[in-house]
Amino acid sequence: MIVTLDGPAGAGKSSTARALAARLGWCYMDTGAMYRAVALVALDRGVPLDDQVLLAELAEGITIEFRNGHVVIDGRDVSTEIRTERITQATRPVADAPPVREAMKRVQRRMAEGLDVVTEGRDQGSVVFPTAALKVFLTASPEERARRRHREETDRGNSVPLAEILTAQSRRDEGDRTRAVGAMKPADDAVIVETDGLGPEQVVDLLIAMIEERCRP
Ligand code: DC
Repeated sequence: MIVTLDGPAGAGKSSTARALAARLGWCYMDTGAMYRAVALVALDRGVPLDDQVLLAELAEGITIEFRNGHVVIDGRDVSTEIRTERITQATRPVADAPPVREAMKRVQRRMAEGLDVVTEGRDQGSVVFPTAALKVFLTASPEERARRRHREETDRGNSVPLAEILTAQSRRDEGDRTRAVGAMKPADDAVIVETDGLGPEQVVDLLIAMIEERCRP
């Protein structure tokens, strides 16, 4: 069975998807981390970020695993490195490239084959798993999302002004919404969940209730 969680950065997708997968005892797939991993390997190997065909070959050629909250590429733990600003920026042209998205669609379907999976991203319900049992689009107001990000940065010892976070976030949202292929949008049959004022556990409870209702004979 597949449950998809799509939506913008800062809506609480990662913490919710991870906690949901743990509660259900299912696999967890972080597709943003997969695009980031391709960007990291491209930079390491000197693959130009505008060579969409080579990038797509990379996407199909590397082995990505999710092990206890860690992201491992070809046996190397890259969990921290893929979250750096350098990789966040390099991921944009990678995620925008239609051949890479086609390759990722195949890889993601292959990884989920025969398993129970909670998968998170931007296009999981709308493109990659159109027959998923439950499709959720998690969202929150731009201000709330920026405040969450600001708290995370402060906890990491980084003092980034809230206004700067909000501006960068709007730019990223716009890019995700308007990319030619794989644009971020709720699937037609997605449930929209607005997470303002809700903690991850409350959202997980809500989603578990939805899954139980859908699986009831
Ligand atoms: O969720 P994230 O910030 O880790 O995603 C990293 C980048 O990948 C971001 O630019 C959005 C993009 N992405 C995508 O295009 N499609 C997905 N399914 C997941 C992420």
